[in-house]
Amino acid sequence: MGNMRPIRAGQELVQLTGTSAKDGPPAELIFGDWYPALRASSLKRKDTAVTTLLGIPMLLGRKSDGALFAMRDLCPHRGIPLSAGWFDGETVQCKYHGWRFEPCSGQCQEIPSLTSHDSLEPTKIYANSFPVVERDGYAWVYVPEAGAGRVTEEATLPPVPELPKFGSRFRSAHLQAELPCNVDHGIIGLMDPAHGPFVHRAWWWRSAASIHEKTKKFEPIEDLEHDGFNAGFRMSPHAPSSNSAPYRLLGRPVTMIDFVLPNRRYETILAENARGKKRWFSSLTTVTPVTASTCRIDVIAAWDIAYHVPFVTPIARYFGAKFVQQDQQTMIEQARGLRSNPGLMLIDDADKPAKWYFALKQRRLKGIGEHPLSEPVELHWRS
Ligand code: FES
Ligand SMILES: [Fe+2]
Repeated sequence: MGNMRPIRAGQELVQLTGTSAKDGPPAELIFGDWYPALRASSLKRKDTAVTTLLGIPMLLGRKSDGALFAMRDLCPHRGIPLSAGWFDGETVQCKYHGWRFEPCSGQCQEIPSLTSHDSLEPTKIYANSFPVVERDGYAWVYVPEAGAGRVTEEATLPPVPELPKFGSRFRSAHLQAELPCNVDHGIIGLMDPAHGPFVHRAWWWRSAASIHEKTKKFEPIEDLEHDGFNAGFRMSPHAPSSNSAPYRLLGRPVTMIDFVLPNRRYETILAENARGKKRWFSSLTTVTPVTASTCRIDVIAAWDIAYHVPFVTPIARYFGAKFVQQDQQTMIEQARGLRSNPGLMLIDDADKPAKWYFALKQRRLKGIGEHPLSEPVELHWRS
């Protein structure tokens, strides 16, 4: 393939945010779990921000005391977005009739039009609010099933995802990109082992000419404590691809990749150099449905590798951003193809993880069935 030229000479301009209005077909969404809504570190006290999560318009903010909140961006009175109103650091006030809400609980505190002739008790009225937890710089929002009612007992919720860290001193970086395809395509793109040599061609990573056969072990992950809720599979610990230059810097590294529902890919690299010094790199990548037909990829990474080297964070961000841009560009092109809702194929063995994902997702949505991986297996592919 050394002589092959791109079919389309011109390049479409790609921006990291603001994808096209024409999106591909929708996917079923998994409600009842935690999703990263936005960077919490960008929300100052008394600030608010709007976003969309699983098709739900959200108003997020931080109260004067530092507490985060997440509300459906909709007044329960007559449906105007609450973001059209006011926030004084304590309560959110609707622009239309001035109803005032405590934003963490959603409880109505005041209805200005009431008189002594009314018996309506404002505090019995609630705007929709969602549990929100700040972790790894993100505001993670719990998005319940439609009609599940207000979450009053947070202890009953599944655990909030967290980037594993293997020491207290580390550097970290994050990045995000919007994708014009539905969450399923985002996720199977994320776990696709065969696209690397084609999508991620770069001198510092690997070339198409370096393709070789690989064998990887996979094992099921069951989450028995939570009824198989966050089930998934693990690419068992292995030495990373010998054709990846950045990995060679680490000295005897071992990589482990976990995928768990609904949308999380954890990659952990632990290394020990000849003098027995331990190093680690850890990343958590999520693909979050923005709407049923669009999604957003977020990567959080932390490492103690080369901790003492200045500028390592901007360098890592550059490599990471370049990498995600290549995936994003590919998915923008794919979304153009998917608009006509074509039939698709999943082949063995390279698309096997995608098959497992779809099976696990159906199992979770229906609440019945077996884990698609009954025991550890080996997959073979060339990449
Ligand atoms: S619509 Fe919000 S107070 Fe009436
Ligand atoms: Fe990729």
